[in-house]
Amino acid sequence: MSRTVYVNGHYIPEEEAKISIFDRGFLFADGVYEVTSVLNGKLIDFEGHAKRLERSLNELDMDHPVNTEELLSIHRELVSRNNIEEGLVYLQVTRGVADRDFAYPKSASPTLVMFTQAKPGLSNSPQAQTGIKVISIPDMRWDRRDIKTVQLLYPSMGKMMAKAKGADDAWMIEDGFVTEGTSNNAYIVKNSKIITRQVGHEILNGITRRAVLRFAAEQNIDIEERPFTIEEALEADEAFITSATTFVTPVIEIDGTVIGNGQPGSTATALRSIYLEESLKAAI
Ligand code: PDD
Repeated sequence: MSRTVYVNGHYIPEEEAKISIFDRGFLFADGVYEVTSVLNGKLIDFEGHAKRLERSLNELDMDHPVNTEELLSIHRELVSRNNIEEGLVYLQVTRGVADRDFAYPKSASPTLVMFTQAKPGLSNSPQAQTGIKVISIPDMRWDRRDIKTVQLLYPSMGKMMAKAKGADDAWMIEDGFVTEGTSNNAYIVKNSKIITRQVGHEILNGITRRAVLRFAAEQNIDIEERPFTIEEALEADEAFITSATTFVTPVIEIDGTVIGNGQPGSTATALRSIYLEESLKAAI
């Protein structure tokens, strides 16, 4: 079935959506994006995603295509027109259309593209029950991973490397320490304490991460924000990832070594339920 998508002010059937070949998103990956999940037809943590988008745009000196209020109404319109109960809204802003030149154009207006993806069963995915397997790979991305740019070729390659090894995802390693997953934040649990890398330029400041750490703190679970190694992860009691599309998903194997007892851990499982419950209450 054809979706209705949004391109620069227009709601149109996906077959009719067009972007210029001169769009800097296409030529230079000069663009940023956000992914907001939808549960029960409502947006999860829209405000967090809108704020991070604003920050990404500011960091890259890129114009804001619409204000937050308009952004929310486009999200809602797309969810409604496409009857999304469970799924996501993808949004991308690029610097716009200009003749190819490495220097930023002086006058280009930003391109805003948004579309939905229906994902029935998102809140109850098989991976949440079974857990996932990850491998470790070197982190070969640029140094500003805190900006959510569309430069996703290396994360895609990482995912393919994982699949080639019969795993689901890859955790990336820099200077001996785990940065994050290809499209998620990474955590281990040791002696009931959650260990996850502190935010900085090295990782994306996950919107799900922030919520999950807040819920963990409310449950009086200890949290240590610091880098950890794969060796430490292999000795952990549990491991898990978070993102807007995986919520909290247990990791049961790293580089072929079983973590804990090889089953989804109790901390990850509890945090997933709390996250889903609380996020649904706050969804708009
Ligand atoms: N990815 N780290 C990276 C590199 C990511 O790409 C993502 C999200 C996260 C988690 O951030 P959040 O909790 O705000 O979703 C961490 C999205 C889901 C994607 O690329 O599809």
